[in-house]
Amino acid sequence: MSLELKSPANERIGIHIPEEVSNLSLPFNGSFATTDGDEYRVKNNIIDMMEKDPAFSTIASSTNHWKLTATIYEELWRKRSLSLLTGEDFPIEKEHELLIEWTEPKAGGVYLDLGASTALYARALKAAQPEADIVALDFSTQMLEEARMKAEADETNIYLVRADGREMPFFSKTFDGIVMGGTLNELSEPTRVLHEANRVLKKDGSFFVMHLIKSDAWYGRLLQESIGLGGIKFWTKGESNDLFSQCGFQVDKQITRGIVCFTRLLPK
Ligand SMILES: C[S@@+](CC[C@H](N)C(=O)[O-])C[C@H]1O[C@@H](n2cnc3c(N)ncnc32)[C@H](O)[C@@H]1O
Repeated sequence: MSLELKSPANERIGIHIPEEVSNLSLPFNGSFATTDGDEYRVKNNIIDMMEKDPAFSTIASSTNHWKLTATIYEELWRKRSLSLLTGEDFPIEKEHELLIEWTEPKAGGVYLDLGASTALYARALKAAQPEADIVALDFSTQMLEEARMKAEADETNIYLVRADGREMPFFSKTFDGIVMGGTLNELSEPTRVLHEANRVLKKDGSFFVMHLIKSDAWYGRLLQESIGLGGIKFWTKGESNDLFSQCGFQVDKQITRGIVCFTRLLPK
């Protein structure tokens, strides 16, 4: 299906993105203009809804815009990270199983991978439900370029949108489900992003969040405090749930393994 975006300049105006933009086997370049005359470019299928780069307030956020980080992120870190962080054998397939079981992507549904990086979750959702429309959003062009290459290699068609999670170019209640893996800890303004997620999620939709919580062990805390200097935030499970609640969500399901916490949130 085609995708309807909300103009960042005028919240009443929609921008119609045809389905062919999500077909990654055919490079799409061009632009879309609103009736107000604002123009948004599409470069190699990446729909750019940001006029300029975001201001980077932390080391963590700026490194995501490096080509090298984008290239090595998934293979060297992401696919192994959960075994390291949970302290048990936790292959990526196990994480995908939970993602699909808790999100239940349905035919004709529209799903958002928020802070997608290389679109690992977006690709898993599309593989599980080819009849759903999947949007991968990130504000890093480098990450979206890597996502594009990986999705094309998997023959997975998804929409790639460059936008800021704090001000998403979507109308209210657009998505049947939102998924967000590892991004919460990196957000400079988590409450703004969670409020936005709440706005764009349908009332009967669900929000799958994987994030890292504060370690119980003193050496873990020491490490997390030093990582915190680079802009990564950690909360206890209780603090995380307070944050979700403040932003309009209730916890439906939650499991923790080591410092990794998986949560299925529903709008309150
Ligand atoms: C830990 S990575 C995400 C990993 C990915 N979700 C996965 O499961 O492999 C965090 C990502 O969030 C993006 N990000 C951080 N703040 C953002 C914001 N305000 N808007 C959009 N993307 C953001 C970063 O560019 C980075 O690619």
